[in-house]
Amino acid sequence: MKLAVLVSGSGSNLQSIIDHVEAGHINAEIAVVFSNKEDAYGLTRASSHGIPTAVIRHTEYSDREQFDAAMVQVLKDHGADTIALAGFMRMLTPVFLNAFPMRVINIHPALLPSFPGTHGQRDAADFGVRLAGCTVHFVDEKMDHGPVIIQAATPVAPGVDGDTLAGQILRLEHRIYPQALAWLADGRISLDGRHVHIAGAEE
Ligand code: GRF
Repeated sequence: MKLAVLVSGSGSNLQSIIDHVEAGHINAEIAVVFSNKEDAYGLTRASSHGIPTAVIRHTEYSDREQFDAAMVQVLKDHGADTIALAGFMRMLTPVFLNAFPMRVINIHPALLPSFPGTHGQRDAADFGVRLAGCTVHFVDEKMDHGPVIIQAATPVAPGVDGDTLAGQILRLEHRIYPQALAWLADGRISLDGRHVHIAGAEE
């Protein structure tokens, strides 16, 4: 599997993926780390591990389709066949998704379908949930919506603030995203409608 990881920020999930690839836990090569922001710290993480990087600023494109087409070109030029969104803050159009059918996955810091959107952890904390978590899912045209691959949950202390909960959830993210990618790399994931099957990991 030739993986492209797309980041817009810190890239702690990227770091976790890099560490698991280097440890031989994911049967993949990270072909490129891509960002829509040239100052994303994730790019620095990639460079320090000798991983190629690419940047295209979305602000230079007048519509999402043109930006997506430019991204597809760059990612394919690097040989990527699978795309992991890791804190990538752009919605993707069919121009992008149809270029990598069922090979685009995302991690969301809430137990979908609860708390989609950009403030999942804070929304869950404000709601007063007693169980929170994260979801790795295939990406479709709707935000935080595609078929679920794996979820992890953690108990929530009463009155916890969004930032504390975000840190708690992030530790889970760093475990389940590499797991999902390892399954994908080994060809163990199949889809039946919205239902994801993992060969050898089910009863
Ligand atoms: C994570 O919480 C992820 O679930 C969300 O964006 C955040 C990215 O964090 N999609 P990082 O850049 O991987 O540290």
